[in-house]
Amino acid sequence: MPSAIELLHITKRYPGVIANDDVSIRIGQGEIHGLIGENGAGKSTIMSILYGMVKPDEGTIKIFGQECEISSPMDAIRRGIGMVHQHFMLMPDETVLRNIILGRTPRRGLSIDEARAAREITEIMDRYSLKVDLGAKISQISVGEKQRVEILKALYRQVKILILDEPTAVLTPAETDGLLNIMRKLREQGCTIVFITHKLKEVLAVTDRVTIMRKGVVTGAGETSEMNVRRLSELIVGREVATEVPMKPFSPGEKVLELREVRTAPRPGRMPLHDVFLSVRRGEIVGVAGVEGNGQSDLAEAIAGMIPLEAGSVRLCGREIGRDSIRRRRQKGIGHVPEDRLKTGVSKSCTISENLILNRYYTPPYSKRGVFSHAKISRFSEELCKSFLVKTPDATYPLSTLSGGNMQKVVFAREFESSPELLIAAQPTRGVDIGAIEYIHGKLGELRDEGRGILLISAELDEILALSDRIVVMYEGELVGQFLRGEADEYEIGEYMLGAKRREVRDEE
Ligand SMILES: Nc1ncnc2c1ncn2[C@@H]1O[C@H](COP(=O)(O)OP(=O)(O)OP(=O)(O)O)[C@@H](O)[C@H]1O
Ligand SMILES: [Mg+2]
Repeated sequence: MPSAIELLHITKRYPGVIANDDVSIRIGQGEIHGLIGENGAGKSTIMSILYGMVKPDEGTIKIFGQECEISSPMDAIRRGIGMVHQHFMLMPDETVLRNIILGRTPRRGLSIDEARAAREITEIMDRYSLKVDLGAKISQISVGEKQRVEILKALYRQVKILILDEPTAVLTPAETDGLLNIMRKLREQGCTIVFITHKLKEVLAVTDRVTIMRKGVVTGAGETSEMNVRRLSELIVGREVATEVPMKPFSPGEKVLELREVRTAPRPGRMPLHDVFLSVRRGEIVGVAGVEGNGQSDLAEAIAGMIPLEAGSVRLCGREIGRDSIRRRRQKGIGHVPEDRLKTGVSKSCTISENLILNRYYTPPYSKRGVFSHAKISRFSEELCKSFLVKTPDATYPLSTLSGGNMQKVVFAREFESSPELLIAAQPTRGVDIGAIEYIHGKLGELRDEGRGILLISAELDEILALSDRIVVMYEGELVGQFLRGEADEYEIGEYMLGAKRREVRDEE
């Protein structure tokens, strides 16, 4: 098969790290090529080089057999390359339509022909079953929808090579199936796809060939048909990975969290809560299953204090906190791993160390009478980076130098270390590699075994099933089903998630 892409001896150095060390990858025309490996392995870097966003120190690139210099994304787009980034690059205050047509705007005379663009895009949406409200503003739509916008943007440009950097990290299982089908359709039309993902099932389901990277180098490549989950995980982390989480037998204590008749106000693009009754006990992991966009975000934010309640009450360890500020609730024992880490979880311009200490810099021993102890702060952050597998040469580097999965680990480490009474973990393993998932799951189990309460919100049903003592299902802002561990399988839960079945959840006394 002729090559669509040849990356030859690419090297890219950053201070203290070699992100890509003599990397060579060949990708055939019309194939779906999986690019996998640990957080920080260099996957996004090599693809950003191909897309002209990062300049390599050494190496050459050939596109369809022709050696070329790609010095900007404009160059890449001109050569038919499209990239959907790990972190969205959309303009929040503009509409979906404007974001999609940016840079390829049809005109009628001097004015923009938005009607024509909308027709063309609607046709693409129909063809690939990829629906978004073209008139909505980016700031009002969910992460899953933003992902679709990014994909539509590339399809609208009729790309010949499409790079997808962890596109399924933010998608629901059904949306993921949809995307895999889109990828297959694109392949039929001759499109070449590079697919970065941490989900081995997806690699096996859709790719033709796969390349594995580790610490900046290529450690393996081959036909997908010769791989299985075990082989791939061994190539990625160098050992087998456990999927079972060791935990003590379930013996829940008193209620840490109790929501009664909680309602939130409608906001554009968000599903408000409608009379939610929910509790989490000590020593219990309660998993919230549901198709994303059914009120899970409002649930987490209403408990954490990021949005006001319209009605109802939220109690923490028996005391009302429904009117408290975010900081007050944190001080009372709430930890929160937010779903959108870049928006609400971290400050990108601060250092890794500052981010790790964000929730306690004003308390001893890190600060005494307003004076910071830099030695204590730096020791603390170094230890955290080590134990939570955050890969960085130095915790005083800006957070923005970390790979996507490593930023997620920073947020989790910070919230875990504050020993919260209640941890709200929203998509806690989104974008982290299989080794780190094993670790984070183990940590959640530890927290539970210590008698803390955990509210786990996850779009990964596998994750919910593996960890939860009790599962509640959210649908259109309400809780529509409740199961104890082992009471229902993914198919049964799936029916509740889609609204096909429901029963009243009123919470036990
Ligand atoms: N702008 C930068 N400055 C300094 N270091 C960087 C920069 N960008 C990336 N790195 C480093 O290069 C290495 C590779 O990062 P990259 O983002 O390519 O990893 P990745 O394989 O995409 O990981 P993930 O699965 O977490 O997204 C990491 O060690 C990262 O910290
Ligand atoms: Mg990446």
